[in-house]
Amino acid sequence: MSYFNAVRVREDIPALTRIINGRPITYLDSGASTLPPRSVIEAMDTYYRLRHANVHRGVYQTANEATDAYEGAREAVAQFLNAPGGAEGVVFTKNCTESFNLLAKSWGVANLRDGDVVLISEMEHHANIVPWFQLRESVDLEVRFIPVDDNFELDLTNIDELLRGVKLLSLTAMSNVLGTINPVKSLARLAHEHGALVAIDASQSVGHLPIDLVDLDVDFMMFSGHKMLGPTGIGVFWTRPEILNAMPPFLGGGGMIADVRLDGYTPATGFTRFEAGTPMIAEAVGLHAAVRYLEGLGMANIEAHDRELTVDAISRLNDQFDGRVRIIGPAAHAERGGVLSLDVEGVHPHDIAQVLDEIGVCVRPGHHCAKPLMKKFNLAATARASYGPYSLPSDTDALLEGLQRAITFFG
Ligand code: ALA
Repeated sequence: MSYFNAVRVREDIPALTRIINGRPITYLDSGASTLPPRSVIEAMDTYYRLRHANVHRGVYQTANEATDAYEGAREAVAQFLNAPGGAEGVVFTKNCTESFNLLAKSWGVANLRDGDVVLISEMEHHANIVPWFQLRESVDLEVRFIPVDDNFELDLTNIDELLRGVKLLSLTAMSNVLGTINPVKSLARLAHEHGALVAIDASQSVGHLPIDLVDLDVDFMMFSGHKMLGPTGIGVFWTRPEILNAMPPFLGGGGMIADVRLDGYTPATGFTRFEAGTPMIAEAVGLHAAVRYLEGLGMANIEAHDRELTVDAISRLNDQFDGRVRIIGPAAHAERGGVLSLDVEGVHPHDIAQVLDEIGVCVRPGHHCAKPLMKKFNLAATARASYGPYSLPSDTDALLEGLQRAITFFG
């Protein structure tokens, strides 16, 4: 590939040395979880072997080192996102789903009242649907949907009407099923004109596209570390410090308090208020290393690499299978990322995934936690291939070989 040396990146990823069913692994499931480079694994290993201690409590040297490492990760994430207010607005959570629950169950409970509207879209992950439905059990909330059109893009024809009365626009930056990249910046501007706040699910974009929170001018952003070459078990919830400081606590316990008495408690301010209990210290250290690794590659380069792979794969899928393999997502020239949801005429996605596994190709079959979207397109499931910065055209070769096998076997 022309933008950076993906072959060199592969050498940094231990998991890509695996042989699966007699073939070198072809990992095409980065939409579900990216593979960590050695620097991420080694950073966590060093923390556990030499620096392990709890944070924000000790006075001894390794405890201070652990605190510095944990808070250093927060700083690195804030800089990576160009977050207004710096690290003050960065809360570490377990994953993006927990971040959405924090949004709905803290900010939502405090700010949404009977008759209020939350606007999401038909292409959202369940993480940006279910918490709003749960909130609707106690508040008479309207959950409104931006439709998805036949080109697998948001239908913005009636966006001004859809935004009427909306308190929060909560939207994915890139669909985990379709690969569609949404016009987040212009929608945020429009939503603000309508008096709404804006939350962005960056799970699929944070490891694939440059993000600049000052430029995007949104109010909340959430994502998971394991979608950006980092470890599982850590996610990010970001909001402006002034919004964060007005949000009530979500989980209660140690670490999140300023004071506890026999008659009650006073919560801490800032991100501390939302990090109850011992946090994910090793995972934060790993996330910091992942941020450094992505910065080393350059996010604009990763974006260009994804695009080159995707455009090539779409053209080869169309040429080789002549319509038998349908891509459930925007055309190659559209704003889209490296996510290819495939619907193969006459072959179930689980069978596709199984045949692909026989030659070492990893894809995800299923509804991808986006059931309303699947229903809209009359699909129970797709077989989804998704790229990472370590992907090569040879991964597409293996995908095509496996698809041909599946069609021959089942067809
Ligand atoms: N949300 C992840 C996916 O789309 C797990 O596969």
